[in-house]
Amino acid sequence: MIIMQAQGVGRTFNGSDLFTGINLEVQTGARIGLVGPNGIGKTTLLEILAGLNPPDYGQVTLAHDISIGYQAQDSGLDSERGIFDELLTVFAPLIAMEKRMHALEAQIADPALAKDQVAFDQTMKQYDQLQHDFQEQNGYGYRAEIRGILHGFNSGKHLGHEGRYPIRRRARPPGPGQTAAGKA
Ligand SMILES: Nc1ncnc2c1ncn2[C@@H]1O[C@H](COP(=O)(O)OP(=O)(O)OP(=O)(O)O)[C@@H](O)[C@H]1O
Ligand SMILES: [Mg+2]
Repeated sequence: MIIMQAQGVGRTFNGSDLFTGINLEVQTGARIGLVGPNGIGKTTLLEILAGLNPPDYGQVTLAHDISIGYQAQDSGLDSERGIFDELLTVFAPLIAMEKRMHALEAQIADPALAKDQVAFDQTMKQYDQLQHDFQEQNGYGYRAEIRGILHGFNSGKHLGHEGRYPIRRRARPPGPGQTAAGKA
């Protein structure tokens, strides 16, 4: 199944085209690498595909039940956080659902609630719905998915349990007209 499609996508900066006519399709389960020289426009394209910026030309369409997690190239990664925890931030909505489920579980286990049949039924209904949505959104699989991604990068063996090594931020190479210490 196609989950994303780009048609005729292009970006202009300062009156000149960085790229035009990008057509692509992303299928379910695809793993795609985007390779190109520095400054060619990879990040610009990914930001358009992720919906962070609109394209100047063309359009991007997304299957209705798809949401996008985006880990920016230079996102100000928190050096205290491990790679696993950094990737977890992409799943913040699922983590919030998980917390809500735990809170409801505690309420359901409380004998006081069982005495109020209406409130008990309401809480159970709410829990069932939440659990259904959580499962649909891969709530029971996202941690395994993160581990799979890290192993895909061959990082797993360096990371120990769930990759709790702090990220060392790499200094960005100086851009044109700049020195490592600042603007030339
Ligand atoms: N907001 C902007 N205004 C003007 N030019 C920009 C802007 N953002 C990016 N550019 C320029 O667009 C070009 C593509 O940048 P982009 O960051 O997408 O390249 P990249 O392929 O991701 O590079 P890298 O390999 O270094 O990550 C660069 O020349 C960059 O200077
Ligand atoms: Mg880039």
